[in-house]
Amino acid sequence: MSRFYVTTPIYYINDTPHLGTAYTTIAADVLARFHRLRGDATRFLTGTDEHGLKIQRAADERKMTPIDFADELSQKFREAWPPLACAPDDFIRTTEERHVKKVQELWLRIREKNPGDIYLGHYEGLYCVPCEAYYTEKDLLEGKLCPVHKKAVEPVKEESYFFKLSKYGPKLLDIWARRPELVRPESRRNEVISFVKGGLEDLSVSRTTFDWGIKVPGDERHVMYVWFDALANYWTALQTSEELKKFWPAQHILGKDIIRFHCIYWPAFLLAAGFGEDELPKCFAHGWLTYGGHKMSKTLRNTVNPGELAKSVSETVGADTVRYCLMRSVSFGQDGDFSIDDVLARYQADLGNTLGNLLNRVLPFADVVPKQGAIGEQERAVLDAVAKAAEASKKAFEDLDPTTALAEIWAALRKANEYVDQAAPWALKKSGDQARLDTVVATLVEVLESAAVMIAPVLPNAADAIRAQLGMEPIAPKLGVDQWPTKTPANDAGRRLVKGAPIFPRLEKEKEAEIRKRYAPPAEPTEAKAEEKKSEPLKATIPYDDFGKIDLRVGLVRACKKVPKKDKLLDLEIDLGEERPRRIISGLALSYAPEELVGKKVVVLANLAPRDFGKGMVSEGMLLAAENQGLKIVTVDGDMPPGSAVR
Ligand code: MSP
Repeated sequence: MSRFYVTTPIYYINDTPHLGTAYTTIAADVLARFHRLRGDATRFLTGTDEHGLKIQRAADERKMTPIDFADELSQKFREAWPPLACAPDDFIRTTEERHVKKVQELWLRIREKNPGDIYLGHYEGLYCVPCEAYYTEKDLLEGKLCPVHKKAVEPVKEESYFFKLSKYGPKLLDIWARRPELVRPESRRNEVISFVKGGLEDLSVSRTTFDWGIKVPGDERHVMYVWFDALANYWTALQTSEELKKFWPAQHILGKDIIRFHCIYWPAFLLAAGFGEDELPKCFAHGWLTYGGHKMSKTLRNTVNPGELAKSVSETVGADTVRYCLMRSVSFGQDGDFSIDDVLARYQADLGNTLGNLLNRVLPFADVVPKQGAIGEQERAVLDAVAKAAEASKKAFEDLDPTTALAEIWAALRKANEYVDQAAPWALKKSGDQARLDTVVATLVEVLESAAVMIAPVLPNAADAIRAQLGMEPIAPKLGVDQWPTKTPANDAGRRLVKGAPIFPRLEKEKEAEIRKRYAPPAEPTEAKAEEKKSEPLKATIPYDDFGKIDLRVGLVRACKKVPKKDKLLDLEIDLGEERPRRIISGLALSYAPEELVGKKVVVLANLAPRDFGKGMVSEGMLLAAENQGLKIVTVDGDMPPGSAVR
């Protein structure tokens, strides 16, 4: 019996779960389900990353304490996974006591095993809060913008503990040369190798200017760098030495954005803490799930709610459909686009016609599993195809390649459908050739029994639904028992078959059209366009009197709605303390949903000549907004009555 410990990154809670984050979680769940079926001791961990400046600021914005904010948002992640048929064995939060204690222990272990590896110094440099990462000038885009978020980085100057990362470069290069499986796929390995060869600088691993983090043991003025804290979760989640012995090291699944942290920092921390080379985790980095060609992310406002998507396709097998399409259409390791056309096409063809219909082409011909007769060449061919698919898909799942595994399984399912065409059970029934009909049905039942197990890692609900119609119990993994169908299942003659409704029924035309419309690729995401726009040059100097001509006022947004057929425009009613609110038409619709603006105190240019937007829409002023990565409105702090002057 083998062991398999698989993890996802722990997600930042300033975002809510979306199809992009679900992609990693589903992939990890698929691999965990495969290993459970093989009888392996399996553990699947996910969770939430709750400390750091980014979360502290997000909580501040919501006027909540960080822990209340974390409690609320981490719950959203916990609840997101079951509707996608994801069943983690553990969900870790970095604010949990069990984690905090162990992270401090890891810090102390480094201090004990390699006393010089953590040392006190002064950090002066640049920091990107959305990345929670340090940058040097050479990493940045023009205008000192973070290369990932295209946002201005912040200068940091403070006392800090450093980790002696520079010491570990040669060691890591040496380890990867011998153990390439630690960083996969190869393209990512090459990326981290060249990063390390470029020279590693020591890493600032503590901060003193905010306190939302884990205290450095022995020096409580400092909180640990959030990535030190977060990466440790994979180890802190295994609390006892038995668990560690049983499961460590892990197989990490992560997006390609965070390889530097997982493949360089993390093993370096572990080596410093005295872990051996064979105790280092393996990393597999997958690509981006894009939507309309852009990375799906909150910043680009192009996310899809995965639970809603699943439900809109089907209450029973919607989750299976989403899982299947993500694993099948996006080659694991590469970028791939989510498209609703692909989902609907695969639902109908791969799932409805090839898989579901195979069942419906067999069950009408028997009430119980017939006794298998003498099988001929046709039967041999189809059973061989299934055995070959079982072997190939097993290898592919083991190799973290669900895409190939599914392609192999579906190749066999297509063969099985061809066999039905050739064997024509309807004709056998008509001609009264019961012996041959029994052979055909018994063969197809065997095929379906095997197929139900093979699809189970990706389509667990459909697998059990097929088994129910075959008169079988739901799949129940057993430790130490390998249930992968490497050989033809025994002929269970006499078992009652239970005909049921189609598992992937055809979607009604209207429903399909509605889904297609709802998930049509988004218009060019807001910030993607803005990203191309860097900082603007300053305009010519003006005398104060010119500025004095501008009348800026505090305005309270009373109402706001979209302007029909105009993607960018919002129609706002803004109270400036006058007799009636003003109507202001503003180009904010790609950056704000109307309800986000109601109740906000904004700044309005009140003496701008009215502007006619056509169809009777006259804008009586302008709302101020900052423009760079999208638009952000200028708001007024505290209690200022509408109409107050702004200077
Ligand atoms: N909190 C850190 C991870 C710490 S792990 C010790 C973090 N969190 S995150 O919320 O930003 O999640 C990042 C992960 O979400 C990515 O690495 C990736 O696994 C997943 N994805 C988020 N958007 C995605 C896509 N659009 N496509 C594919 N994966 C995506 O970084």
